[in-house]
Amino acid sequence: MSSSIEAFILILLLLLLLPSRICQLPLDALTSDRPIRDGEVLVSSTQIFALGFFSPGNSQHRYVGVWYNKVPEKTIVWVANRDNPVNDSYGVLSINGDGGLVIHGKDRSTTLWSANVTLSSPNNFTAKLLDTGNLVLLENSQRVLWEGFDYPSDTLLSSMKIGLNWRSGLEWHLTSWKSKDDPGTGSCTYGIDPMGFAQLFLYKGRGASWRGGPWIGDRWSGLPVITATVGAYNVSFVNNEDELSFVYAIARDSVITRGVIDESGIYQLLVWNDQENQWTKFVSYPSEWCDQYGQCGPNTNCDSDKDYMLACTCLPGFESKSPPLRVGGGGCIRKAGASTCQNGEGFVKVAHVKIPDSSTARVNMSMSLKGCKQKCLMDCSCTAYTNADERGGGIGCVTWHGDLMDTRTFSNAGQNLYVRVDTTSLAQYAKSGGSLSKKARLAISLGSVTVFLLLLTLYWLISMKMKGIWKQAYKKITFLSLIIGKRRQNKYPLKLTAGSTYFEEATGRLALHDSRINSELLFFHLKTIATATKNFSIENKLGEGGFGCVYKGILYDGKEIAIKRLSKFSSQGVEEFKNEVLLIAKLQHRNLVKILGCCLEDEEKILIYEYLPNKSLDTFIFNETRRVLLSWTRRLVIIFGIARGLLYLHEDSRLRIIHRDLKASNVLLDNSLNPKIADFGMARMFREEQTEANTNRVVGTYGYMSPEYAMEGLFSIKSDVYSFGVLLLEIVTGKKNAGSHEGYPYSNLIGHIWELWKEGRVVEIIDSSLGESYLVSEIIRCIQIALLCVQEFATDRPTMSRVVSMLGNDSALPSPTQPAFLLKRMSPSGNSSSNKGANSVNDVTCTIVEAR
Ligand SMILES: *[C@@H]1O[C@H](CO)[C@@H](O)[C@H](O)[C@H]1NC(C)=O
Ligand SMILES: *[C@@H]1O[C@H](CO)[C@@H](O)[C@H](O)[C@H]1NC(C)=O
Ligand SMILES: *[C@@H]1O[C@H](CO)[C@@H](O)[C@H](O)[C@H]1NC(C)=O
Ligand SMILES: *[C@@H]1O[C@H](CO)[C@@H](O)[C@H](O)[C@H]1NC(C)=O
Ligand SMILES: *[C@@H]1O[C@H](CO)[C@@H](O)[C@H](O)[C@H]1NC(C)=O
Repeated sequence: MSSSIEAFILILLLLLLLPSRICQLPLDALTSDRPIRDGEVLVSSTQIFALGFFSPGNSQHRYVGVWYNKVPEKTIVWVANRDNPVNDSYGVLSINGDGGLVIHGKDRSTTLWSANVTLSSPNNFTAKLLDTGNLVLLENSQRVLWEGFDYPSDTLLSSMKIGLNWRSGLEWHLTSWKSKDDPGTGSCTYGIDPMGFAQLFLYKGRGASWRGGPWIGDRWSGLPVITATVGAYNVSFVNNEDELSFVYAIARDSVITRGVIDESGIYQLLVWNDQENQWTKFVSYPSEWCDQYGQCGPNTNCDSDKDYMLACTCLPGFESKSPPLRVGGGGCIRKAGASTCQNGEGFVKVAHVKIPDSSTARVNMSMSLKGCKQKCLMDCSCTAYTNADERGGGIGCVTWHGDLMDTRTFSNAGQNLYVRVDTTSLAQYAKSGGSLSKKARLAISLGSVTVFLLLLTLYWLISMKMKGIWKQAYKKITFLSLIIGKRRQNKYPLKLTAGSTYFEEATGRLALHDSRINSELLFFHLKTIATATKNFSIENKLGEGGFGCVYKGILYDGKEIAIKRLSKFSSQGVEEFKNEVLLIAKLQHRNLVKILGCCLEDEEKILIYEYLPNKSLDTFIFNETRRVLLSWTRRLVIIFGIARGLLYLHEDSRLRIIHRDLKASNVLLDNSLNPKIADFGMARMFREEQTEANTNRVVGTYGYMSPEYAMEGLFSIKSDVYSFGVLLLEIVTGKKNAGSHEGYPYSNLIGHIWELWKEGRVVEIIDSSLGESYLVSEIIRCIQIALLCVQEFATDRPTMSRVVSMLGNDSALPSPTQPAFLLKRMSPSGNSSSNKGANSVNDVTCTIVEAR
C-alpha cells in the first residue's frame, strides 16, 4: 500500500520536474517541432555564445539576439528582428516552411521577421548557433541555407566578413543601433566601398566620417596599427570576381574580441579582460584630428602631431585657396600660373602618409613604380601616383586624376605618395634634396615652434585683458579638438593585465595614439617612456619631488606628458602597486592632475600624467614678475579649486585620501590657470597606514607639516587642512612660510601673521603686487579661514567641507586660536622639537625615518 503511494508520488514528482527541467536546459539546436520561446536560450556547442529573446537597456520590446554566454556583462553581438520587435512576452523563433526562420509574437498570423528562405518540407532542417556566434540554418545538418553573419548588426566578430558578395548581391556592413535602448537600424555604417581602388569607410548618415583607405597588401593604408603580421590575429582580404571582403580571425580561442560601431559613429575594437571583468579598448577611430574625413580640404596633408593651428599643410605644388589654411577651410589649389602639362613638371615624394581617397583612382596591379611614374607623367590629368601593394618593396600602380582628398601623415608608418608639381616647385624641392631637407625641416619646425610660442604669449597677454572672450575661443578650439575622441563617454576604463600580454605590444603602440583623447589608464612600455624622455635626460627633467623625479616627455604622436619616476624605496609588490595605481587613477576631479598611465617594468615604477605647461603655483606666487599675472580674482579661483580638490580627496571619493604633501609646488596650473593638485595618493601607494595613525615615516614638506604630524608622526585629514591653511596664507601674501624669515620679528610667516592678526594689522602683509584689485574684507576673511586651518590642535581645525562653505559664503567665522609655530627659529644646537632629523630650510621635501 505505502509503496504504491510512494511510487505514485515519485511519478508525480517526475512528471512535475521533467518538463521544467527541459525548459531550463539550453537547447543546442532548433528544429521544426522545437522552436525557441521567449525565456529559452540556444547555446553554441562549447557554450561561447547564446541566442534568445532580450530587451536592450530600458526597452520593453523583445528582440532575438546573440550574446556572449560567458561574459557577465550582457553584450549583444547580433540581432535578428532589429527593426521589428515583439510587443509581448509570447515571442517565438521557429523553423517554418515559408520563410525558413521566422519570428512571431502572440499574434501568430503576423510574421515580424523572416530569413526569407523557402523550404520544401521543414522536416529536415535545423538551426544551430555556431561557436563563432553565427546562427545557421542547415539542411540535413550539412548544407548551409542561410546564416546570420550575412546580415551583420553593429558588431564585427572574429571570422565574420565585411565587404560584398558580387554573386549573391549580399552587402556585409555594420550598422549602428539607433540608441542603447533600440537596436533598430541606425545611421552609422562601417564597411567597404568598392568604388575605384576599394576602401574601408565609416559613414555617418550619408557622409564619410573616416576612411581606412585601400588595402595595400598587408593592411589598410589608413590603419597602420592593424596589419596581417600581428601575431594575435590573422587578417585576410579577398578581391576577386566572387567577392570583395575582409576578415579578421583571432588566433587564440581564449581571447574574446569584437569590433563595434556605436550610435555616434565611433568604431572600436574591444577585448574582453576576464580578470577585470571588463571590455578593454584596443583600437578606436576616428580618434585623432586627422581621422576626420577631409579635415583640411582638398590637396592638403593633415598631421595630427602638429598643433591644431598648424595641422594642415598644402601638398607640394599647391597653395592655400584662402590663406591662412585651417581645419575646415577651403583646402589648396594649384599655385597660380603653374603649368603641369608637358611643361617640365615632375613629382615630389610625400612620405609616411595615408594615401588620398582612391574612389576615383585607377589601379593596375601588373605595373612597377617606374612604369607607374611614366604612365602618370604622360597623362596630364594624373595628379599623383604610388604603389598599389606595399609588400615586397612595392608592386602595382595607383594613379589619381583630380583633387587629392583626405591625405594624412603618420609619424612613423604610412606610404610614399608622389605628387605632380610644376617646374618651379620641382626645382625648389630638388634644391632642398628630394623632399624637404633636414635643415629645412628643422628650420620649419623651429619656425613653427617660435610662431606657436609667440601666439601663445600673445594669447596670454590678451587674455589677461579680455579674459571672457578669449577663454571662450580657446575653449572652442579645445572642444573641437576633443570632439572626436570625447564624443563617446568612456565606459570601459582600460585595464590590461598579464592575461592579455598578446595585446600589450600593440596596445603600447596604441597608447601613443589614444592617450591624447581618452582618460583611460594605459600601461606604457619602458622603451616608450625612455624614448619620450630621451632616456630620462637632464634636459627633460622638470623637477624632483618627494617620491621621485619628474620629467617632461613627448610621445611620438606629439603628445606631451609628465613622467614621474618613483624612487625605489617602496617595498610594495608590483601587483599590489598596480592595483593601487588603478585605484588612484579612478580619482577624477577637475582640480586633480590626471593620471594617464603607468609603467611597471624592470623594477621601475613610473607614473604618466597629463602635462601642464604652466608649471606649479610656486613658480607664480614666489616669483617677483610672474606673481603679477595672478590677480586677486584668479587667486580666489585657485584657492577654491585647491579646496574642492582636497575635499574630493577627503570626502567625496570612494577612497579616503590624505594627501600629506600639499604645498605650492604640488599645485599645478592648467592653460587657463585653474589649479590641479598633483602627487595625491602617493603616501597610499607607498603603503602607509590608511587611517589616522602613527607612521614610522613622515612624508611631507617642511613648513607645511602640521605639528602633530611632524613631531609625532600622527596624521589625519586635519594635517592636510593645516597644509591648506599654510598654502592659503602664502597665496595671499606671496611669501613662503618656510622661506627665509629675515624681517619677521617672529619665527615664520604664520607666527608673523598671527601677531599682525592680534594687532589688527594683517592688511600690511597682503601681497603688494595685487595692487588695488581686491576687496580688503575678502582677503581678511581668507586670512581668518587660513588661521583657523593652522590652529595648534587638530580638533579645532575645520574640515575641508567646512572650509569650502566658509570660502563660499559670508557667514560669521569663529575666532582662530593660537596657531602652531612649528618652525621655531632654532638654535644651532637644536632642541627637543628638531629630534626627527628635519633640518632643511627651503622648500625641500624631507623624509624623516624614525629608527626602530
Ligand atoms: C505593438 O503594440 C501597439 C500598441 O501597444 C500596437 O499598436 C502595435 O500594432 C503592436 N505591434 C505589433 C508588431 O504587434
Ligand atoms: C526578408 O524580406 C523582407 C521583405 O522583402 C525584408 O524586409 C527583410 O529584411 C528580409 N529579411 C532578411 C533577413 O533579409
Ligand atoms: C529527409 O532526410 C531523410 C534522411 O536523412 C531523407 O531520406 C529524406 O529524403 C529527406 N527529406 C527531404 C524532404 O529532404
Ligand atoms: C587564420 O589562421 C588560422 C590558422 O592558421 C586559419 O585556420 C584561419 O582560416 C585563418 N583565418 C583567416 C581569416 O585567415
Ligand atoms: C596594366 O599594365 C600592363 C603593363 O604596363 C599593361 O600591359 C596592361 O594593359 C595594363 N592593364 C590595364 C587594365 O590597363
